[in-house]
Amino acid sequence: MTTSSSFDDLAERSRELLALIESAGSLDELRQSEPVLIGKRSPLAAWQKSLGSLDAAQRAEAGARLQDVRRQVQTALAHRREVLERRARDERAAQDRLDLGDVVVRSVSAPLRAGHPGLVATTQRELEDVFVAMGFTVVEGPEVETDWYNFEALNIPPAHPARGMWDTFYVDLGEPETVVLRTHTSPTQVHLMEAAVAEGTLPIHAVAPGRCFRRDTPDARHLAVFHQIEGLVVDRDVTFADMAGVIETFTRAYFGPDITSRLRPAYFPFTEPSAEFEITCTICRGAGCRTCSSTGWIELGGCGMVDPAVFEAVGIDVEHWQGFAFGFGIDRCAQMRFGIADMRALVENDVRFVGQFS
Ligand code: DAH
Repeated sequence: MTTSSSFDDLAERSRELLALIESAGSLDELRQSEPVLIGKRSPLAAWQKSLGSLDAAQRAEAGARLQDVRRQVQTALAHRREVLERRARDERAAQDRLDLGDVVVRSVSAPLRAGHPGLVATTQRELEDVFVAMGFTVVEGPEVETDWYNFEALNIPPAHPARGMWDTFYVDLGEPETVVLRTHTSPTQVHLMEAAVAEGTLPIHAVAPGRCFRRDTPDARHLAVFHQIEGLVVDRDVTFADMAGVIETFTRAYFGPDITSRLRPAYFPFTEPSAEFEITCTICRGAGCRTCSSTGWIELGGCGMVDPAVFEAVGIDVEHWQGFAFGFGIDRCAQMRFGIADMRALVENDVRFVGQFS
């Protein structure tokens, strides 16, 4: 770099200054060349000094050109500093980056294995598939319900002894209405029928799987959080025989052709007549064993023709529509299909158990 104070080569020298700035490869290099660029010994300072030896007219012109060069140098400096700072920041970030994947892989010293859905989720999906193949749609209802949906619309008035069939968790939201964690998936029937009436979309052929809650002490056959799948058909000329046919078709499709179903009279407030449906015990294939108390049958769920009181609660004309409903445990299905002795294994997340169902 020449430190000439002649203004003739101002343009050329200023290009050299700008090139020097651009060639600085690091913040340190840039800092080191600052005296040459803008310090007391820089060409800018020399030019500034030599302004004094010019006559007034030349000084004004040279001063303006000098001012212009100074501005260019300062802008180029600031810009280069920014670029180099950003580069330094990126480099630091790249060095400091902690590769967690690397750490995990090395610490378990084995390749990571992908997980898979749990047995209950898989069972739910397979049940849905069976019903979809039969023409049902799949819907989901809320897990928190008002007393109306969980009980009253299902023909279970307050203080009715039938409430004793469901050990309920109450939710205190500070509302005047009683709110509960749903004790069964049957309230989804009410949502489905209300929506179909409001939107004029009857008939209904739907199944509604989901989580249910009861104040039960967990044991080999009960969990306080469990899963059911509800079925609802509302159509014209629907009979009990249609319902029995759907249940039998489902049973064989899901459990296999050597497992069959039977209906036994029962009572549910929201169906009339009502039945419990049982399937051939999958443990002894009907021969009789401890699991089925030597009967050869295992109860899976409840079913029946939709009670007219339920139709009235949701505003469906009982003269024109009939329906049937059913509901059974998804966890119970998994238990029966895979011969799981204790239902608690479904929620304990022991990988030795869970891993068998990938
Ligand atoms: N919701 C009943 C329960 O959890 C099961 C049930 C019975 C569902 C009869 C139904 C039905 O849809 O028609 O005990």
